[in-house]
Amino acid sequence: MAEGAIRVDGLSKVYHGSVRAVDHISFEVRPGEAFGFLGPNGAGKTTTVAILTALLAPTAGTAIVDGIDVFSHPAEIKRRIGLVFQESTADADLTGRENLELAAALFNVPRREVAARIEALLDRMQIGDAADRLAKTYSGGMRRRLELAVGIIHSPRVLFLDEPTLGLDPQGRAGFWRYVQELRRDHGMTVFVTTHYLDEADGLCDRIAIIDRGHIVATGTPSELKDRLGGDILTVRPLAPNAGIEPILRAVPGVLSVTAQEGSFRIKAPRGEELVPKLVEACAGAGIPLAGVSLKRPSLDEVFLEFTGREYREEEGGMTPTDRAVRLGQVAQAMGRGRR
Ligand SMILES: Nc1ncnc2c1ncn2[C@@H]1O[C@H](COP(=O)(O)OP(=O)(O)OP(=O)(O)O)[C@@H](O)[C@H]1O
Ligand SMILES: [Mg+2]
Repeated sequence: MAEGAIRVDGLSKVYHGSVRAVDHISFEVRPGEAFGFLGPNGAGKTTTVAILTALLAPTAGTAIVDGIDVFSHPAEIKRRIGLVFQESTADADLTGRENLELAAALFNVPRREVAARIEALLDRMQIGDAADRLAKTYSGGMRRRLELAVGIIHSPRVLFLDEPTLGLDPQGRAGFWRYVQELRRDHGMTVFVTTHYLDEADGLCDRIAIIDRGHIVATGTPSELKDRLGGDILTVRPLAPNAGIEPILRAVPGVLSVTAQEGSFRIKAPRGEELVPKLVEACAGAGIPLAGVSLKRPSLDEVFLEFTGREYREEEGGMTPTDRAVRLGQVAQAMGRGRR
């Protein structure tokens, strides 16, 4: 297979013999592609990243990254990949420059290249002015940029990002992705990113997979996935609960489907804007007062709802303490700092 890509086949992870975190997933990431791995809390994203970066052994299945079998050559995999976790992996008591020097040493960056690479990264990530300040004095955005620099100092061919922008403001998120896109453009790096922010993935990723409860429920380009929804999404909210409205909505020409939600009705239809006046008219004709009608072009949120039957937002939230502990342990191990 071509270099620089990821191929996963029948991958499963069962924790403690009972928690099926990843359940027989298969997918492929093409060289140079930005591939988004999206799903709510507990879907299995971090588990997948940990397996693909040789931090965690799977229960079953195979994974090839950059042409190398992850499970038979974990050391080689760690040399070829970069990893940026959501949790801070920068050492707060070192300066930005020292963090980069440490990473360069851990990843065996050739001695004669270290200084120039560090300068270039500090400059590119716009942390040059703060290079000799302790990382604990950095803002969240600066820290994330430092971590991105740490993650790519050895010029990895595949970069794994596990919710790298969680907790950043929109400006910080946009800035972070700008750097990632530049790196892709200049180095042809393959990027595998997990995120909670569906809109973010929509703009950034060439293709995405949606994972839910350990299963991949959909894969495709963002526009392919939206096209599969078959049109726009309208939401009709009657002023008071009214069971009689559903057949009236269904009967309006152009309506593809009607789904009752809490207190409102979700309608799929091509050319949604033309349908709005017809829906209003039909309800008025039936004597049903409306509180509102809204029209949305499908977003990845709707794609998620379509493929899982659940709202994405409901499940959003921070990491659990377990997630945090697991992740920090993995990071310490990955950075070879567990012994301190
Ligand atoms: N070390 C562990 N031991 C037991 N169960 C675990 C362990 N790590 C993860 N899990 C469970 O596996 C499932 C998948 O977890 P994972 O961290 O991969 O999800 P995630 O998609 O990254 O979620 P989040 O968005 O919250 O980071 C969850 O049910 C989680 O509780
Ligand atoms: Mg996670």
